[in-house]
Amino acid sequence: PRSIWVSRHGESMYNLSGKIGGDADLSPRGQLYAQKLPELVKQSAGDLPLTVWTSTLKRTAQTARHLPYEKLSWKALDELDSGVCDGLTYADIEKEYPADFQARDEDKYNYRYLGGESYRDVVIRLEPIIMELERSENILIVTHQAVLRCIYAYFMGSSQEKSPWMEVPLHCLIRLTPRAYMTEEERLFADV
Ligand code: F6P
Repeated sequence: PRSIWVSRHGESMYNLSGKIGGDADLSPRGQLYAQKLPELVKQSAGDLPLTVWTSTLKRTAQTARHLPYEKLSWKALDELDSGVCDGLTYADIEKEYPADFQARDEDKYNYRYLGGESYRDVVIRLEPIIMELERSENILIVTHQAVLRCIYAYFMGSSQEKSPWMEVPLHCLIRLTPRAYMTEEERLFADV
């Protein structure tokens, strides 16, 4: 059976300050995850020759930096575009755009940031990625929280509408193995 490996990027400087979006570098702790990732992948994939897909943002490339595999970056794997809220914290958004903050909480899947995207938009832009994944083997995807939630829900056959609330930890490598009736999941945490 074919597996797909997925991970969020390591902790970024924006994660540390609670800001969303942007194109920040990894934090020192995020860099440690990048250093430990090759060993973690080896534990799960052995000597399989993987191909690594990242987004076009620095934090995913930096996370994949030490992986000894071929790499490909996809714009379609970039984080959900938070439009005018890019670079703000959730507290800033609540203060500056209170109606939007509430609307998002009420319907997180359909809420589209002003000048940005909704989860529904992300699911649609991921279609080519999913198609390519279905006909590829041994892919490791290093991407972002919102994108990972959508990919995960697709493979687990769980509801896309609920996926925006799903917990996806940092510094964790997830292996998904689709079987006839369900997808098997393994989670490996890096000690960083
Ligand atoms: O905080 C990290 C982050 O990837 C942001 O860049 C992004 O806007 C957010 O998570 C997505 O999560 P949520 O949809 O829960 O706000």
